[in-house]
Amino acid sequence: MTHPIFDLSGRVALVSGAAQGMGRAMAIAVAEAGADVMVADINKEGVEATAKHIQSLGRRAVAVGCDITNVEQIRAMFAQLDQEFGRIDFLGNVAGPATLNKPEEIAIETFEKIVYGLLVARFCCCQEAGRRMLQQGKGSIVNIGSLASITALGRGNFAYSVGMGGVAQMTRELSTEWSGRGVRVNAILPAQVMNPGLEERMRTDPNLAATFLRGIPVGRFGQPDDIKGLSIFLASDASSFITGALIPMDGGNLAVNAGGTVGPTK
Ligand SMILES: NC(=O)c1ccc[n+]([C@@H]2O[C@H](COP(=O)([O-])OP(=O)(O)OC[C@H]3O[C@@H](n4cnc5c(N)ncnc54)[C@H](O)[C@@H]3O)[C@@H](O)[C@H]2O)c1
Repeated sequence: MTHPIFDLSGRVALVSGAAQGMGRAMAIAVAEAGADVMVADINKEGVEATAKHIQSLGRRAVAVGCDITNVEQIRAMFAQLDQEFGRIDFLGNVAGPATLNKPEEIAIETFEKIVYGLLVARFCCCQEAGRRMLQQGKGSIVNIGSLASITALGRGNFAYSVGMGGVAQMTRELSTEWSGRGVRVNAILPAQVMNPGLEERMRTDPNLAATFLRGIPVGRFGQPDDIKGLSIFLASDASSFITGALIPMDGGNLAVNAGGTVGPTK
């Protein structure tokens, strides 16, 4: 039996990065709890497959191809949302760029691009969703942060880490500005959740998996589906007194302050 406090029937969600990984899992989770969903990704074919899966659950789903680092495309996506659904109750701000560079070597243009994608463009999504939710008097926004939102990583993630630090502060500021008018804003901070990029890095660096696992007391890496419970919880009235929170989803990493689980940096 499912507790009705988690019921998302009649609500509309927009989730970015929904072709695969945590974005896909989040979109499917809120749909399983009753929401209709607009799913966005730069990978149009992949996000159409996610929409098909959601439709097979009996929910409404619309797939949109969108480069989530492009403000014009974000605005067009929200205009389409208005036409298709006419409201938004939940935003899952999942997609975001990353790069690996030493701070002494990174091109300023690369640094700017990553911080822009993670912070400025993500804020554009929050602003578009927030304006609509404030008018409705209710809504929930979840930004995907990182361990890097609150601790240094020390392994070449400099631009990503600075951007994710900003995501934490954006979450706190928006929550403080908006929660009195019904719009909650929270962040989920995942540790290493398996995805194709991480698998590739582990293949090329045989020590990486053991280094990361030393920082995860649960003793395993995350899987995309690990985000499902938090997604439903934060989208639903079950979390109505929870806002401005940075919630680790990290197998205990931050509790031991492992943070970056720094390996050799030279
Ligand atoms: N996997 C982890 O260990 C981890 C940890 C902390 C934070 N994060 C962050 O969580 C987010 C999702 O991670 P994941 O593991 O699910 O990734 P993933 O690589 O499995 O999936 C990312 C999805 O985002 C889409 N995407 C990439 N760039 C895009 C763009 N510009 N516009 C629209 N869509 C785009 C991809 O096509 C893909 O479908 C990322 O922002 C990542 O930085 C991941």
